[in-house]
Amino acid sequence: MGEPGQTKFQTGLRRYLREMEVDRDLTRLICEIANASKYIINSIRTGDLGVAGTSNLYGEDQLALDVLSDRIIRKRLSHSGVVANMVSEETPEIVSVSTDVEGKYSVAFDPLDGSSLVDVNLAVGTIVSIYEGGNVLQPGRNQVAAMYILYGPRTTLVYSSGDGVHEFAMNQLMEYTLVQENLQMAPKGTIYSPGGQRNLYTPGIEKFVSYMEQNGAKLRYSGGFVPDINQILVKGQGVFMYPHLQDKPMGKLRVLYELNPMAYLIEQAGGAASTGRGRILDLEPQGIDDRAPVFIGSKEDVAMAERFIAEAG
Ligand code: F6P
Ligand code: MN
Repeated sequence: MGEPGQTKFQTGLRRYLREMEVDRDLTRLICEIANASKYIINSIRTGDLGVAGTSNLYGEDQLALDVLSDRIIRKRLSHSGVVANMVSEETPEIVSVSTDVEGKYSVAFDPLDGSSLVDVNLAVGTIVSIYEGGNVLQPGRNQVAAMYILYGPRTTLVYSSGDGVHEFAMNQLMEYTLVQENLQMAPKGTIYSPGGQRNLYTPGIEKFVSYMEQNGAKLRYSGGFVPDINQILVKGQGVFMYPHLQDKPMGKLRVLYELNPMAYLIEQAGGAASTGRGRILDLEPQGIDDRAPVFIGSKEDVAMAERFIAEAG
């Protein structure tokens, strides 16, 4: 693979997608998002940290960076020629790019997840979910690809198009080159990443946390969904949860933009993703703003969470 003198691990993203025989238009779409991320990093590094003066569908204040990242991706997708419909965590409705959906893709994305962590200089990310055709409101199991970009000390891109999960890092030329192919999750983990306030946990969740602690698991939670999931995926073990809370039965995280793409990636790596009562990827979406509780990571740990929840709620 690659040119003479070039190792596989200098393979660029586009070349890798071609060699993996990923559909040409899907390759185009993934590369458009990769290109958009270069502009997003630039805004994170140097942009305005203030609020935009608007709020999103969830009543959360939008930061100038949220709005800008959203515009950067939307513009790229609109001009890609391969997108039918798109919907973002920052926009209140599905946007039609092309009425001719045949052979095109539809995309749900969170342009800058964790944006409220930028002022304290913690890691943030972009999350993307991709379907064939025009429908973004379908169960996550129908995704044909998912990816995220993590803006940390390094910028990395992780994608799957149904043939394993592969990690790339941005080099000095701002190109993504292969770091690791076929990320794999061990069945049990020694890290846990628990979202939500502990005093609002239900008895089942408390039991699950004690189970992880008794097995020697260490707490590793940054408060950013992308770095927290990336840690589990790249370490190849552990569990992240943002559970149902006593005052928030649906937890916090959003099915279309956050949970479906991450569930797809973790399952592709041999892990599991559950609401605590069933597979995330089997959820039938009711609307673009659906939320669900999530337990995601090493398979046996996720199964234990389901067991404690079935027994104690
Ligand atoms: O978009 C949601 C998000 O910022 C995620 O990145 C993160 O996992 C979660 O919210 C953190 O929520 P909390 O602030 O309640 O811990
Ligand atoms: Mn988000």
